[in-house]
Amino acid sequence: MKGYRLNEVFAACPPGFESVLLAEINDLDLPLTKAPKQVIGGVELDCPDRQTWSQVAAETNLWLRSATRVLARLARFPVHHLAQLDKRSRRIDWSEVLPTDCRLKVEASCHRSRIYHSDAAATRVFKAAADGAGAHPGGGTNEDHFKILVRIERDLCTVSVDTSGAPLYQRGAKLETAKAPLRENLAAGLLQLADWHPAAGEALMDPMCGSGTFLLEAVGLACRRAPGAQRHFSFENLKMHDPERFAAQKEKAEDQALSVSPVPISGSDNSGGAVGATQRNLERAGFSKLATVQRLDISEVRPSAATGLMIVNPPYGKRLGRESRDQRQLYGELGQVFREQFAGWRLALLTAHGQLALATGLDFKQVSVAIPHGGLRVKLYRHEP
Ligand SMILES: C[S@@+](CC[C@H](N)C(=O)[O-])C[C@H]1O[C@@H](n2cnc3c(N)ncnc32)[C@H](O)[C@@H]1O
Repeated sequence: MKGYRLNEVFAACPPGFESVLLAEINDLDLPLTKAPKQVIGGVELDCPDRQTWSQVAAETNLWLRSATRVLARLARFPVHHLAQLDKRSRRIDWSEVLPTDCRLKVEASCHRSRIYHSDAAATRVFKAAADGAGAHPGGGTNEDHFKILVRIERDLCTVSVDTSGAPLYQRGAKLETAKAPLRENLAAGLLQLADWHPAAGEALMDPMCGSGTFLLEAVGLACRRAPGAQRHFSFENLKMHDPERFAAQKEKAEDQALSVSPVPISGSDNSGGAVGATQRNLERAGFSKLATVQRLDISEVRPSAATGLMIVNPPYGKRLGRESRDQRQLYGELGQVFREQFAGWRLALLTAHGQLALATGLDFKQVSVAIPHGGLRVKLYRHEP
């Protein structure tokens, strides 16, 4: 496999969050051969050898907040027809990576390439892995299954193993959801996109907290809690996994965690069900003493500190129809309470409709790129004092 072997890790994130993810990766100070490279949909990390590659995969899974998953890239080679794909994927040392007799699923995608039949490509690579490591067909989602991803782009094939398993936004604590919940990695990415810096003393409040996603992620950021500390990852079953080293990585993460938040983190919602769900989600995460939550209408919310960031994801429909009158009124109330009560605070508002942002009567100087969420494209509107 000389020349084709890769020791690369790819951290994938939702579109629009690449720069946030890159900043998170730079903060980890990983042993890489060169600076991590931001590309569309994620960040590429080049490792010096297989041992570092597996260490970096573990560290990134454990710590990255805005990533969706982490792939370990095994090989890259030019390919022009299926017989060549078969031959080249058999040169991968599968037994070095996969445990014998494991269950495996291969997913392939082909773009602008002579090989265009993705199912046929997946079958070839599966057979090579099955012969190389005695793998059996499997679902690729459960803990004891592995997923291999094959991407053929302009006749160049990249073969990766998924090291995360369940997507990274499934942190293990938010088991209850209210209406239209955000994914954890999206909420964490939005807090960072809004330039929230708890260490600089800025409080945080979400007055329409739903199931509490912003609060959970805010506590994680402020108290330096590793987002993956409570879950299992697919790499823990890979042959190259070093359980002792991973236990040490987790222990180091625990040592860094703060037991008190440096700033007040609070949430509210006018739905009793949502407040209850948030409270139980915070408890499951071990964060119940690190954030407060209460039942309040938007008109009743008041600041928890002299300065802070209000981050909020109010309801919005797919289209702005006649029923949107209530929504415009709600956004108007939000704008009014913010103007009258929150002098010195910043606002970050997530919505799918610019007209609803306008209905707040606030001036938004910074608007993010469109971010896919729940079948819609939402934007983060930022108001600074
Ligand atoms: C889109 S959801 C927020 C989802 C949340 N970000 C999450 O990840 O779970 C909007 C929330 O606004 C709340 N809400 C609607 N009208 C409100 C009002 N007048 N005052 C306070 N909360 C309100 C709803 O109960 C709902 O939980």
